[in-house]
Amino acid sequence: MIILDGKKISNDIKDEIAEEVKKIKAKGEKVPHLAAIIVGNDGASLTYVGSKVRACERVGFESTLVQLSNTISEVELLDTIEELNSDDNIDGFIVQLPLPDQIDEQKVLLAVNPDKDVDGFHPMNFGRMALDMSTFIPATPFGILELFDRYGVETSGKHTVVIGRSHIVGRPMSILMGRKGFPGNSTVTLTHSRTKNIEDITRQADIIITALGIPEFLKADMVKEGVTVVDVGITRVPDVSKKRGYKITGDVDFESVSKKASYITPVPGGVGPMTIAMLLKNTLLARERHSNKS
Ligand code: GUN
Repeated sequence: MIILDGKKISNDIKDEIAEEVKKIKAKGEKVPHLAAIIVGNDGASLTYVGSKVRACERVGFESTLVQLSNTISEVELLDTIEELNSDDNIDGFIVQLPLPDQIDEQKVLLAVNPDKDVDGFHPMNFGRMALDMSTFIPATPFGILELFDRYGVETSGKHTVVIGRSHIVGRPMSILMGRKGFPGNSTVTLTHSRTKNIEDITRQADIIITALGIPEFLKADMVKEGVTVVDVGITRVPDVSKKRGYKITGDVDFESVSKKASYITPVPGGVGPMTIAMLLKNTLLARERHSNKS
């Protein structure tokens, strides 16, 4: 069994990006600038955005954090997005999800300038991804592809089962794994909350990518020998033995499933850090496209 070590690979990627930033600086050019909008004070979202900003510092990017109140109106948020769209200093930005109920998420995603949409959530970028055109690939799926690439995990002709159809992970992942090329060329089954007898499907899988949010959902008797397992779940489970009062738990019963797996991602230290590294990569790409235009 080989651990797909997202912590190590994400550090390698950040080192590679930091080298690129050094070259940019040496030429006297402007370094990449990522901005993040966060609405409200949800603990998990604040943690993720904090990690994204710290990662920017580590590779030498500029970063801007825009923190807005939970009670902000949709119009105010759209105005803030417009400001970032027209700020020539900013190469790319994200609006951290989820958003409060008074805000229509679809309107927000549509408002982001596709050239600055480093999350790859705008319908234009999502459509380009589905059509094999160059675009920003959403960071979590991009990170999973990168892990397959760097560890040489064979995906061609394999049966990939994706669990969860979220717009951020499951849906794009199902599209990417079926695309022509490597990683891709898989036969993909997209399962979700209405799927019947899911264990009959997961037992046939060569590769399982789970993004469900149910702690330790995937058990050893649901997988076949030699499976590759990618765990995108990050649920906070109460744990009094921890100082912060919770532990981060994935969708996979790692203890038992890892004994049957050929490759597996841990939680934490698997997909999570890869997401951040790939967001930085998309920001570097956004800056390149931006400077080619101006
Ligand atoms: N919420 C959970 N994951 C993500 C992500 O990748 N991007 C944004 N913007 N919000 C998220």
